[in-house]
Amino acid sequence: MNPAAVVTGLGTTAPETVVTNEMVARGLDTSDEWIRTRTGIRERRVVTSGTATSDLAVDAGRNALKSAGLDEVGALVLATTTPDHPCPATAPTVAYGLGLGEIPAFDVSAVCSGFLYGLASGAGLIAAGVADTVLVVAAEAFTTIIDPTDRNTAPIFGDGAGAVVLRAGKTSEAGALLGLDLHSNGSMAELIMTPAGGSRQRSSGRVAEPHEHFMGMQGRTVFVNAVMKMEQSSRTALAATGWETGDVDWLIGHQANARILSAVAERLEIPAERAYINLDRYGNTAGASIPLALGGAADEGLLTAGHRVLLTAFGGGATWGAVTLRWPEIVPVV
Ligand code: UT7
Repeated sequence: MNPAAVVTGLGTTAPETVVTNEMVARGLDTSDEWIRTRTGIRERRVVTSGTATSDLAVDAGRNALKSAGLDEVGALVLATTTPDHPCPATAPTVAYGLGLGEIPAFDVSAVCSGFLYGLASGAGLIAAGVADTVLVVAAEAFTTIIDPTDRNTAPIFGDGAGAVVLRAGKTSEAGALLGLDLHSNGSMAELIMTPAGGSRQRSSGRVAEPHEHFMGMQGRTVFVNAVMKMEQSSRTALAATGWETGDVDWLIGHQANARILSAVAERLEIPAERAYINLDRYGNTAGASIPLALGGAADEGLLTAGHRVLLTAFGGGATWGAVTLRWPEIVPVV
């Protein structure tokens, strides 16, 4: 039987600069009150000039390796929506920055579901015998693709990174990834899209308007689909694990909007207090939000060894999915 992928270390990082709702609302037709009540966000961390995604990824990766007690791994997967450059991938830069040698390293592009796709990719590398240990990093300098004058996105997003180390093991061990359920639907691609900078715009011969380099989002439609798909995928991952929704100790969902997380919890009949939320402090950090939430919940002593955890996300692509695991005995470095 192929080896299972077992979480054996967790690290996170966030930029030091805090931007409050009041600061975002300056010069924008919005308010602290609207942002708080419609999203749950109070403040977010943002990168300052000169900090790129790989810088955050190296910090989170170093913390995860420290948490795992390792100084080398067999492969690195980086989930990001905001690579340092359109070409090449950022993962090799991260592996180099961590001094990991000439290991396989590649990017995964699944926006807010990126961490779940990264976990599945890491598990695949282990099952295929490519590596016995994989560093899975999700890092986003997301505010670099946000138009500060767009009230549909500027109040929502923030920057940060999180990483886990996966190792080959058995499904019976705590930390093993159990139910993995992933999906996509490209008919929803335009709901979350950066129009310029890719081959569609470049091959047209048309020079992009500056604002086309920013990401646009049809928030309401994303909201409705996110609730529906996260519920569906969670049920599939739970069924594959042999767990009922009532067995879940922690629902750690993509931190997009507190109202989305409550709606998913309610539909799954998981009590609201078992749905962890830290988006009030970080905003929506896209792919990085789930590992940042895992780090927060563990660091606050809420998530402890043996807890049954359900991870779920929905995001650009559209992509979505869910993963289950029993939380291992690890000390996160946050
Ligand atoms: O992370 C990847 C996936 N992303 C998400 O999951 C985000 C999902 N979407 C959301 O979180 C929410 O849709 C938003 C927070 C983006 C928007 O909240 P909403 O409750 O869906 O607002 P809405 O777009 O339905 O607009 C409601 C009202 C409208 O006014 P009227 O027509 O009721 O008078 C909007 O014009 O709120 C207005 N509005 C705003 N007002 C102040 C929309 N955005 C803002 C704003 N400030 N920033």
